[in-house]
Amino acid sequence: MFDKTVYTNRRNRLKKELKSGIALFLGNVDTAFNYPANQYHFRQDSNFSYFFGLDNPGFAGVVDVDNDKDYLFGNDVDIDDIIWMGKQPLVKDLAAQAGIETSFPYNDLAGFVKKALGEGRKVHFLPPYRGETVIELSALLDIPNAAVKNEVSVDLIKAAVKLREIKEDVEIEEIEKALLTAYYMHTTSMKMAMPGVKEQDIAGTIEGISLAMTGPVSFPIILSMDGQTLHNHSHHNILQEGRMMVTDAGSETDLHYASDITRTVPVGGKFNARQAEIYQIVLDANMNAIEAIKPGVPYRDIHFLAARTIVNGLKAAGLMIGDTEEAVQAGAHTLFMPHGLGHMMGLDVHDMEGLGEDYVGYDETITRSTEFGTAYLRLAKVLKPGFVLTVEPGIYFIPDLIDKFRSEGKFLDFVNYEKLETYKDFGGIRIEDDVLVTETGHRVLGKPIPKTIADVEKTMAEPREWLKREGFL
Ligand code: GLY
Ligand code: MN
Ligand code: MN
Repeated sequence: MFDKTVYTNRRNRLKKELKSGIALFLGNVDTAFNYPANQYHFRQDSNFSYFFGLDNPGFAGVVDVDNDKDYLFGNDVDIDDIIWMGKQPLVKDLAAQAGIETSFPYNDLAGFVKKALGEGRKVHFLPPYRGETVIELSALLDIPNAAVKNEVSVDLIKAAVKLREIKEDVEIEEIEKALLTAYYMHTTSMKMAMPGVKEQDIAGTIEGISLAMTGPVSFPIILSMDGQTLHNHSHHNILQEGRMMVTDAGSETDLHYASDITRTVPVGGKFNARQAEIYQIVLDANMNAIEAIKPGVPYRDIHFLAARTIVNGLKAAGLMIGDTEEAVQAGAHTLFMPHGLGHMMGLDVHDMEGLGEDYVGYDETITRSTEFGTAYLRLAKVLKPGFVLTVEPGIYFIPDLIDKFRSEGKFLDFVNYEKLETYKDFGGIRIEDDVLVTETGHRVLGKPIPKTIADVEKTMAEPREWLKREGFL
């Protein structure tokens, strides 16, 4: 946990934002995997974690805005639990770690909420994303399960986003820990990307690095030479010379801060001419976008800057034709990059996505596009110092999408479909970094992970001595 003052300050700032009522935060509970006592790895709710810090299942926190008080609800363990779990801190001591003076047994929560509702006070709560939480909220608020989602507090959502989107220095330090792990995960993945190696060997190895260094992966690893499938969680291919392998992977720290990095490498360690040409376009898009990051700029503009870089590059490669601006206006780039440039990152890898993407990435000045591809842009609003976001352009050759658009006669003025036919076996390339918006510009977070063609080839050429030097062997 951070120092208790971090959590006290956050709750006090929340009170100022909310002005009245009580904010109820249900922490997560243990969830059964395949029978009751065999449970999924416990992952605390990120909002509970943000305001209360505690990493124990079965707790709830209340911020009483009207009375300027904070409460923790949870149960002390009994001897039966101690036999299996070992001695555990008392709830009152856990509360003190979070800067809270008053704690109650969990069963007192129902009466507390009922009393507040009886007094006509607003009980703010955030959108639940687990069935257990829906059921608990339904019971506490005495409303049907299906009605819970209609009662979430937009005021609390907006207040939580306003606080969480600006990262504190202690949070940046955590993210950089997750990124150091990502450095080892990705450089190891690069070194293992040799013909004949199974994708699963690499995915398992780098997941192990994550667990050994910081904690679980921050999302299921995407690792495949079929990189044209954007979120490919299948790892059954045996790597082949001439293909490229995408690794999109990150780790989570003890305090649940994430990293989210993508690198794409040629199997065997040497780019051929066709791979190098497409790779360089994606790298240019990544680096141009990063260069443009500074406070005051809408991220949607940077998304379209990356789109223009991609169109210009694909024109030089003979895969696109026509005027770049017109092509981007028409959305022709979405045939190659049918996703957004990036998203916020922090306690969640897609930070705060559970609160509603439009509250996180958009605001009253900027609304989500309904156009194919651009509609997937998760972050569009004006950047502020303290935002941490991903920059993840890509070029993908998706045979089904190429066939669909071609058969519909789409983008005939901008796409050289004849030449594109010969790229259907290419796969995809994505290059992703995690970037902090600073007062004057930006800082790419973490220890730099090779991404230029020369650096990737150099890393992949280094013998296994590298693993020894870095302390793995
Ligand atoms: N790791 C999924 C993404 O990059 O958004
Ligand atoms: Mn990613
Ligand atoms: Mn990402």
